[in-house]
Amino acid sequence: MTFKEQIIQGIPKVLPPPKSIDSKLNPAPKRKQILNVEEKKLAIKNALRYFPKKWHKELALDFAKELDIYGRIYMLRFKPDYAIHARSINEYPAKINEAAAIMLMIQNNLDKEIAQHPQELITYGGNGAVFQNWAQYLLTMKYLAEMNNNQTLHLYSGHPMGLFPSSKKSPRVVITNGMMIPNYSKPDDWERFNALGVTQYGQMTAGSFMYIGPQGIVHGTTITLMNAFRKVLKKGESIKGKIFLTSGLGGMSGAQPKAGNIVGCISITAEVNYIAAKKRYDQGWVDKLVFDINELVKLAKDAQLNNKIISFAYIGNIVDVWETFLKENINVTIGSDQTSLHNPWSGGYYPADLSYDEANNLLKDDPLLFKKKVQKSLKRQSKAIKMHVKKGTYFFDYGNAFLLEASRAGADVMNDKKTEFCYPSYVQDILGPICFDYGFGPFRWVCASGNPKDLEETDEIAKKVLSKIREKAPKEIQGQLDDNIKWIEEAQKNNLVVGSKARILYADSLGRIEIAKAFNSAISKKKIGPIILGRDHHDVSGTDSPYRETSNIYDGSKFTADMAIQNVIGDSFRGATWVSIHNGGGVGWGEVINGGFGMLLDGTKQSEKKLEKMLFFDVNNGIARRSWARNKPAIIAIKREMERTNELKVSIPENVDDTILDSLYK
Ligand SMILES: NC(=O)c1ccc[n+]([C@@H]2O[C@H](COP(=O)([O-])OP(=O)(O)OC[C@H]3O[C@@H](n4cnc5c(N)ncnc54)[C@H](O)[C@@H]3O)[C@@H](O)[C@H]2O)c1
Repeated sequence: MTFKEQIIQGIPKVLPPPKSIDSKLNPAPKRKQILNVEEKKLAIKNALRYFPKKWHKELALDFAKELDIYGRIYMLRFKPDYAIHARSINEYPAKINEAAAIMLMIQNNLDKEIAQHPQELITYGGNGAVFQNWAQYLLTMKYLAEMNNNQTLHLYSGHPMGLFPSSKKSPRVVITNGMMIPNYSKPDDWERFNALGVTQYGQMTAGSFMYIGPQGIVHGTTITLMNAFRKVLKKGESIKGKIFLTSGLGGMSGAQPKAGNIVGCISITAEVNYIAAKKRYDQGWVDKLVFDINELVKLAKDAQLNNKIISFAYIGNIVDVWETFLKENINVTIGSDQTSLHNPWSGGYYPADLSYDEANNLLKDDPLLFKKKVQKSLKRQSKAIKMHVKKGTYFFDYGNAFLLEASRAGADVMNDKKTEFCYPSYVQDILGPICFDYGFGPFRWVCASGNPKDLEETDEIAKKVLSKIREKAPKEIQGQLDDNIKWIEEAQKNNLVVGSKARILYADSLGRIEIAKAFNSAISKKKIGPIILGRDHHDVSGTDSPYRETSNIYDGSKFTADMAIQNVIGDSFRGATWVSIHNGGGVGWGEVINGGFGMLLDGTKQSEKKLEKMLFFDVNNGIARRSWARNKPAIIAIKREMERTNELKVSIPENVDDTILDSLYK
């Protein structure tokens, strides 16, 4: 059967033979055995509802085996044999382009070159799932192939509930991932309900099909690292020879050494999993793999002495590097951590003093002891970091819940009053005040033709648009525009594309709208093919996350999630092709609500109208909320937007004189 025929078929007519996990394809950690016998039966019963009765006996045995070995039912035998990667939009068997665009993005998120654990349908972050199982993938692709532009597909945590009548103006797909009744949103609830096959952890962009490979995060990391160095270096002091120490070479974290090279420092990234490190090395994202801690010490000292710009991946535990560098008196200028601590007890963070394999076995055989060892390691790591900070290191939490989990483990990471963490999150210190409050965030696009020439052309268009905006930009945002113009000029040289022909940059509402309009016009003139717009959920308006995206909100509202919900509803009726809302992306189940969109530009007038209305709301919703929280840059930004846009009327906060408040409680 051809690729198209297989997509249209959905669940195959003939039962495929059993398959097991290929160990060469970076298998996911085996999940905790959390279900009792009755629940196991329910999980298998749930899985069997995708298949005809005649297969139930055989599949029941197969699924029970998967549940026993992996802690989940992935339905491995239904993983298609065709190559899964982003094809050109014309190669999908769809009736409408919007559906083909979504198919392209789904396949990109499951591409083995991109996905962290492709066989288990995990794109990044250890458990960031596109679907829970292969039946959901097959059915979703079939529905998309059948869909017309008066239908909307509703996806419940990967499960395609079905096509429902809607209208041409409606989103074509509505995605919810992991939305729980709040009291059932603890990490173990995820383990249980995911094992039952009724929910999934969609991360930010995995379960919304908007992950574009680590390029997205290289850009964000470059911006963050550049500004972190700007914060700590004295005037005239060079970045060269300065060390950035961190950990993780996975889906997101793998971008750190590349960003270190772009910024021009020495980066040292510890990674316990050799396969993950090798993948980044083979891609050219990290310069050297180091297996021995003493060799790492020698190399780090030599690089410092000779002001080298180089990136080292240390194959081992980050705890050892922080502790050894302390003993060896190696100066770390910037420190962070990007292990998957949003998922601390199930393989997101590996404890010290155990090899990768030993740790994985312990996780399977004795999860309680594994948890204790993780807590002990977090305490050791935090202790070593504290000593480095005393010597001058600038340490920041990189949005992976490091400080949250370290504090829960009993590590010393609180301020003297025990009210706040003693280190900032990168959003509090860097991204919040310089980017999000002004509306700058991760705008991205994918050239749906798959043609590299389209990407070149769109880079050129984006550069021209930003340069024009820069001419009249107010001083507060000139730096942002300069950084992004430089980024787009060097984007091709940095060779960052993996999978679909995608690009990312940070822009504000005006920048995003003007770039998108220029793309739409180029499509209408047939200079380029259709473009899929999107963004990371890690943005101005998409995410309510008290320890990350909204950590610089100080009016008490950082524990609310109205902004993210407003965002996805608002985007959905302003023209998004698909919208998504998730629980947990980035920092962990129950800790955040995050949402996003995808939008296909096809060069029509309709597209232009949609992009203007939707992108405007998508950014300004968050600026308005940040402004209402009294964030000064956001007040400036929303006032400027109101001057430009007649129909925008936003409530602006009045600032009270603190002496009035103080006098009340003397
Ligand atoms: N900074 C951001 O903008 C941003 C954005 C999205 C996600 N995140 C968060 O960053 C974290 C990492 O994301 P990811 O996609 O790279 O996850 P990932 O699971 O793909 O990668 C994490 C890596 O850390 C390694 N690791 C775990 N414990 C270790 C230890 N003790 N020492 C050395 N290596 C260890 C793992 O082997 C893994 O390869 C997640 O919590 C994610 O939510 C950050």
